[in-house]
Amino acid sequence: MQKELNLANIRLEYPVHTISKKLLVPAGARLDQDIINSLRANNKNNDKYPLIRIMLHDTLMDDFFNIIKTSAHYSVIFSDDKSVKSMLEIITGIEIPAPIISYLEYFKIHEYYTYRHILLVFTLSTLLAMDLIKDKNKIIEASIAGPTHDFGKLSVPLSILTKDTPLSVKEKSYLQHHSIAGFVLLTYYFQESSHFPGLVALQHHERRDGSGYPLGIFLDNPMVEIVVACDIYDALVSPRPYRPMSFDNRSALEEITHMAEQNKLSWDVVKALIAKNRKTQPHFQDCSISKETRGEIPGKNLYGKIIS
Ligand SMILES: [Fe+2]
Ligand SMILES: [Fe+2]
Repeated sequence: MQKELNLANIRLEYPVHTISKKLLVPAGARLDQDIINSLRANNKNNDKYPLIRIMLHDTLMDDFFNIIKTSAHYSVIFSDDKSVKSMLEIITGIEIPAPIISYLEYFKIHEYYTYRHILLVFTLSTLLAMDLIKDKNKIIEASIAGPTHDFGKLSVPLSILTKDTPLSVKEKSYLQHHSIAGFVLLTYYFQESSHFPGLVALQHHERRDGSGYPLGIFLDNPMVEIVVACDIYDALVSPRPYRPMSFDNRSALEEITHMAEQNKLSWDVVKALIAKNRKTQPHFQDCSISKETRGEIPGKNLYGKIIS
């Protein structure tokens, strides 16, 4: 259970709708306690949603295996059978309120990049949490936030998510709305505002040096930072609508190392990610970081305009 967040200063620039298009919060509203209470109360009048095991739904598990089989970038990361087996045991037990599964189905049909990204951030962040966190319950808590970190993208028009040219200032601000929208939606569906999935949805674009959004806070939560680093890594190495070529692993890890040097990301998490990319898979504390820059950033990449 997280501390109650004070979000009264946040004013929504765009509306938030449920999966079934019911307006939850109009544009212009502030996320004060009354609104948050009403989001929770809206659903508390009804029965709790049934919980379902996300990876046992439909073809999600098969889709995950197909994605890693066809993604050269992930071949080393997921090569250690023992840790992959433990990771699968954890994610198979993760449950979410039933309506949330429709969001995955929505992206699987309408925007496969996001669907693929959600599955990879979910599995990779669980794998890293197993290395970085000792307490099993905390690992599960970190894992549960992976699949819903981009839930708020439901509130962003598909025309923006699938745009293959740089975004305008207005479009970028609409895309950035997904952090707050995700928090609102998860408060509604989980009937809880002080839980970890909502916190991660809200903070997964924040940085340790305060350079992120939406609040520009100085991120200092090891569990959130695991999802943050996995989110950036997957955004770099994966194909995106606006980028003909993805980063190779070396360039992506150099980019992420650079972000740790700038105190945007946690060194431990970056080391854990680099360790997973080594064939010998050393423990992250034994992982030395090369300062040599050898990766080649692909031409025409729009990094800097990337909003994962
Ligand atoms: Fe995001
Ligand atoms: Fe993401």
